[in-house]
Amino acid sequence: MDNISLAGFDEIEVTSAAPAHAEALISAIHSYGGHARLVSQPTDAKICLLTEGLASLSLTERSFAALEALRKCRTGIHACLLGLDASSHLDAIGGEAGLCRSFRIEKPEARTFAFSLEECANLEIFAYHVLAALLLPDGDYTLRNDAIWQDAFSQNLKPPAGTIELPYSPVWLISGGARGVTSDCAMELARRTGGTFLLLGRSDLTEWPDWLPADADLKSLRGSLARNATRPGMPQKPAEIDRLARKLLAGAEILSTLNAIESTGAKARYIQADIGDQAGLQEILASIMNDEGAITGIVHGAGVLSDGRVDDLSLQDFQTVFAPKVEGFETLLSCLDASNLKHIAVFSSASAVFGNEGQANYAAANMWLNNVSELLAASLPDTQVKSFCWGPWHGGMVDDTLARMFAERGIGLISRSEGARIFSDQLLLSPHEQVRFVIGDEWGAQ
Ligand SMILES: NC(=O)c1ccc[n+]([C@@H]2O[C@H](COP(=O)([O-])OP(=O)(O)OC[C@H]3O[C@@H](n4cnc5c(N)ncnc54)[C@H](OP(=O)(O)O)[C@@H]3O)[C@@H](O)[C@H]2O)c1
Repeated sequence: MDNISLAGFDEIEVTSAAPAHAEALISAIHSYGGHARLVSQPTDAKICLLTEGLASLSLTERSFAALEALRKCRTGIHACLLGLDASSHLDAIGGEAGLCRSFRIEKPEARTFAFSLEECANLEIFAYHVLAALLLPDGDYTLRNDAIWQDAFSQNLKPPAGTIELPYSPVWLISGGARGVTSDCAMELARRTGGTFLLLGRSDLTEWPDWLPADADLKSLRGSLARNATRPGMPQKPAEIDRLARKLLAGAEILSTLNAIESTGAKARYIQADIGDQAGLQEILASIMNDEGAITGIVHGAGVLSDGRVDDLSLQDFQTVFAPKVEGFETLLSCLDASNLKHIAVFSSASAVFGNEGQANYAAANMWLNNVSELLAASLPDTQVKSFCWGPWHGGMVDDTLARMFAERGIGLISRSEGARIFSDQLLLSPHEQVRFVIGDEWGAQ
């Protein structure tokens, strides 16, 4: 190991969230001529190494603990948040880089950076890498045995070549595929590959009463339901009316997706289930695979938002976002043998790459998806693994308010047809080594 010297460095605080890692860091700091002390939370040192991302907690709790540690850092302190971006245990991986990038957008004065490491049993080597990165200029760093590099946005989206005809009839399992922008991608895939489409979502197929106008939007539907509140079984209270209107629209959207897929000649089936319910999903998928054959590709589009500024985000906000996106993906993988899959696509977000105001939890969850995709691609040479870091679409969770906000920031929206085309091109035709890419405008420089 090259010699590094911390002589002349200010005292370094090391948080005790991951005790063994913290002890190794402190001992290494002393042996390289520096001063260090163990603290339960950052206090008054100018440099702090935060071990919360390595703590023995669940991924969601760890990510929230990491945010809490960042919040406790005084302005101007140089804080490095340590976490794993590569491990054989998916739950040990984190999305610290997405968290830090979002944190800095909301607090531009913060000097908080992510050091993303691969799992290393030798804590002496681990500590050496961290200290080597600490000597580098401010930045988010990826630390490996043979190299340390600063994460920077680079667009590696190569135009896909040719067309593809799958030599088998695919069976696609698509979480979130019946609604939102994932449904556009499912419909485009059906046009390209045919086969069977299993679309997973929580909403039920509430029947559309024939006395309601077809094609109503949420506002007009609420109005029609309110005017018909005296009909038997109809809700009276505004909150109940709103709930029914949303249920009806969800059911109509699911039906419309199923019809659109079937109109291409492919087969479509809706699975009503919560992706977080591992036992329930395992049972349902076993029975479905009995009927439809082995699943050949998964698309993980299920996701929800629970936005808030970094000072306000709660553990519950992390749980809400991590449940479908992170735990949901783990559940899907646990129900299937990934080595039998020909395609794996995950819907990540540009917020993981650039950070985003009000979305530190969402950016961390999506960064986890990116990290896990890279690992899956490396271990599955015969599987196309793609992580789509989408910018905002014109649809799905981007409502009119969010669309206006992006327009004010000069960030273009991805049209539903263009997004679906890019998705299918990249999933089916791009080279194996192209795993994660950003689609949409860059906003990191803003
Ligand atoms: N729209 C964008 O601009 C944008 C940008 C970047 C990334 N993305 C990502 O793209 C994906 C789709 O987003 P969207 O905009 O289409 O959002 P959306 O309209 O809110 O759709 C989300 C989908 O996820 C499903 N879902 C949520 N929680 C679930 C759960 N626990 N179990 C099963 N299904 C669940 C929903 O179905 P039910 O409600 O019926 O369960 C719905 O089909 C998300 O992962 C999102 O993070 C979107």
